Amino acid sequence: MIHPHGGRLVNRMVSGEQREQLAKRCGELPKLALNQRELADLEMIAAGAMSPLEGFLTESDYRSVVNSMRLASGRVWSIPVVLSAKSDDHKQLKSGDELALVDEAGRALAVMEVDGCYEVDHDYEAQMVLRTSDDGHPGVQYLRSISPVYIGGTVNMIRRPEHKDFVRHRLEPKETRVLFSTKGWNRVAAFQTRNPIHRAHEYLQKCALEVTDGLLIHPLVGETKSDDIPADVRMRCYEELISKYYPSDRVVLSVFPAAMRYAGPREAIFHALVRKNYGCTHFIVGRDHAGVGDYYGTYDAHAIFGEFEPQEIDITPLFFDHAFFCRMCGNMATTKTCPHGKEEHVFLSGTKVREMLGRGELPPAEFTRPEVAKLLAEAAG
Ligand code: ADX
Repeated sequence: MIHPHGGRLVNRMVSGEQREQLAKRCGELPKLALNQRELADLEMIAAGAMSPLEGFLTESDYRSVVNSMRLASGRVWSIPVVLSAKSDDHKQLKSGDELALVDEAGRALAVMEVDGCYEVDHDYEAQMVLRTSDDGHPGVQYLRSISPVYIGGTVNMIRRPEHKDFVRHRLEPKETRVLFSTKGWNRVAAFQTRNPIHRAHEYLQKCALEVTDGLLIHPLVGETKSDDIPADVRMRCYEELISKYYPSDRVVLSVFPAAMRYAGPREAIFHALVRKNYGCTHFIVGRDHAGVGDYYGTYDAHAIFGEFEPQEIDITPLFFDHAFFCRMCGNMATTKTCPHGKEEHVFLSGTKVREMLGRGELPPAEFTRPEVAKLLAEAAG
């Protein structure tokens, strides 16, 4: 089984006596209510999905990640996983303090051992991580919505966030690892996605299945921008297609709790490292991975892997060119395999598909399988 990033699967979930003591202490500690992104990050840190992180980034780790895509230890880490202050009191927290991390309903989920507070420059973070500080970028909008004071420190989780959705599909890294090993899979490809499945996605996944033992379809179900298709609709599409068109014994469908950062290349590295923690050996990176608008070049998310030694990343990226249905070939292809001109290729952007659905039109079968088109049309109303 592939090693987690950093060599050890982190577990910040406490139990027994320690849990009881911490839960009791929570009542007296200062509280901080996490936003949706932070809640998802906390859950992933505690379950080891963010290994080697044991908490929210401390100042030295944050500065190192922003400037050089590495933790202070030198280990590759491309995305700041941070906790923002919510009140002036939080900005006074200092090393050695404890903080109760609570959900929106005020339930205590974890206790943080504070390392310290630090002030950041959001424009600089945006430029470095998102490659833009343009207000049209959803990641920049998020940064503008939070405090520029971050609190770093390790977390001890005493209660998992409550989830009413996708309950059957919430597997933690230790569970996917056991599952892959029970299935006897040595080579497992992971597929990150935030959009409804279309034929190009299916093509990438099935090409990957040709060269691996199994596939983890890992749709992101954390916060996305408001015009992305909701996760429950996307999950229904997946369930429908897997039952009809996939070898179900070679596929695992499980949700990825994280929020979308829309950080393109940097997020591709993050998505890959995190999937290694779930036990995957390969990671699919297609066109404009984790991109939005025109902020990134089509293959920037491929190029960034070249900035690291393969053993620093360890999970093997499977790069795919832009895929489409070619009417002349009569199947899915990329320009690597298809000699025909653009006029023969069927490709629709997400925006185009949303517009069609808005007008009550179904996207063509060459782009989206009819079963998915029907589910999307129903959801569009
Ligand atoms: S993403 O934000 O999660 O990257 P999306 O769900 O659209 O968005 O993409 C999932 C994966 O499929 C990403 O690796 C992306 O690069 C890839 N991908 C999406 N559409 C295509 C396409 N037409 N050709 C090649 N790769 C694609």
